[in-house]
Amino acid sequence: MRLSHFRIFAFAAVLAVCAAQAASQEEAKTVDAVSAGEALFNKRCAQCHSLVAGKNGKGPSLFRIVGREAAVVPGFKYSRALRRMAADESLKWSEENLTAFLTRPSLLVPGTRMAFPGVKKEEDLTKLVAWIKANSGPSPDDS
Ligand code: HEC
Repeated sequence: MRLSHFRIFAFAAVLAVCAAQAASQEEAKTVDAVSAGEALFNKRCAQCHSLVAGKNGKGPSLFRIVGREAAVVPGFKYSRALRRMAADESLKWSEENLTAFLTRPSLLVPGTRMAFPGVKKEEDLTKLVAWIKANSGPSPDDS
């Protein structure tokens, strides 16, 4: 009798440890996804873009990019193609449009000046967009 109680207790303890491990693995995955997004940004975007307001490089500042209108950064000389799309189609950088643009910029905006072939792996794109969303300041939609 005593032994079987002990067994049940031991079994429960093992289950609890497994659950705790699974939870911390989930957390580790989230952290990995975020740092993967940051690494991708640094490797593929940072040479032309900053996330700091008003800081333009070869490309415009991406401060508050998620949810904002295209081609509105002051002092940046956008291509005619992007300005046209912004004016004629009220192009906004929703997560969906941003993902489409970064898959292949010239496909969404033929004639864009952004000389970038695109992010090929869907998994990388998801991580990159999530990281940009979390690190580019509050979305214009939130204010
Ligand atoms: C070689 C330089 C270069 C690289 C690398 C680059 N971009 Fe760009 N980006 C530009 C330029 C130039 C423009 C302006 C495009 C135009 O006017 O057609 C632009 C425009 C954009 C826009 C539209 C901004 C707005 O204000 O409407 C977004 C969003 C963007 N880039 C995101 C990215 C991201 C994310 C990456 C990395 C995956 C990246 N870019 C890589 C040069 C670059």
